[in-house]
Amino acid sequence: MPYSVPDLNYAYDALAPHISEATMRVHHDKHHQAYVDKANAALAETEWEGIKPMKLLTRLDELPEDIRDTVRNNAGGYYNHNIFFRSMAPAGEGGGGEPTGKLFNAIKDTFRSFDVFKETMEAAAMSTFGSGWAWLVHDGSRVLIVTTVNQDNPISDGLTPLLGVDVWEHAYYLDYENRRADYVKAWFAVIDWEVVAKRYADAPVPDVSHILERPVSISGKQRVFGELTLDDARTQSSELGALAGWGPMAKVGSIARAWTELAKNLEGRGAATVADLEPPMIKQAALDLWIIAPERGMI
Ligand SMILES: [Fe+2]
Repeated sequence: MPYSVPDLNYAYDALAPHISEATMRVHHDKHHQAYVDKANAALAETEWEGIKPMKLLTRLDELPEDIRDTVRNNAGGYYNHNIFFRSMAPAGEGGGGEPTGKLFNAIKDTFRSFDVFKETMEAAAMSTFGSGWAWLVHDGSRVLIVTTVNQDNPISDGLTPLLGVDVWEHAYYLDYENRRADYVKAWFAVIDWEVVAKRYADAPVPDVSHILERPVSISGKQRVFGELTLDDARTQSSELGALAGWGPMAKVGSIARAWTELAKNLEGRGAATVADLEPPMIKQAALDLWIIAPERGMI
């Protein structure tokens, strides 16, 4: 099946005044359609026809050289615009505001606050020279911001795109002329954070099931790491903290600090047990506590 442009989930004029009906019509019906048409033409009657763009974009080096750049630009354009148009909703009716829940926590872990995230995203969008995108992505352990040129997508670098802002002039010139910064600020009013949170929830994360089963001794009792509670972490933190500085146990201070950090995370997340934390956080805690061995390449 060749690719086709998905319909918008809202009316063409629903994002106005932040993004006008005229911009939406030309962007969705002309530009997005053109990427789809060119991708379909390049892939027609090849073994790659019908393969989802997100798969193609992670295997660009396997494509025949004569269609590789065309596919990169146009399957990329198709995939990027699917993400972009699906990430917006009318302001006040699903669009705008701030994320909640686990996505909000992840943004706070990386950027300290939503405002700093927003400023960083705006700066990234402004830093893209010429045509490209600024993205919020997930790298398997945390969220971060990256930029891409042309129609490249972060998925080609092994990152999961959560949210992207199109900074090609076709995305804003009719409404904002050369004022890209005004467009990016306005775009925040129409971001559908529920959709972004869903992508965050679906992003690949490390499998920590074996870590949750690791035995841990708490006050002389054998337990498993996944079932430990805030009280357990506090107990370990204070018991080991009392030993810190005792010569023969060189690591004890850093392990006591890791228990304190785990207690802070359990409390901050309102998590009943370690198993309720996000997998990347579980993995980091297990490494810091020497419950699992450092991976190769780690110091
Ligand atoms: Fe675009």
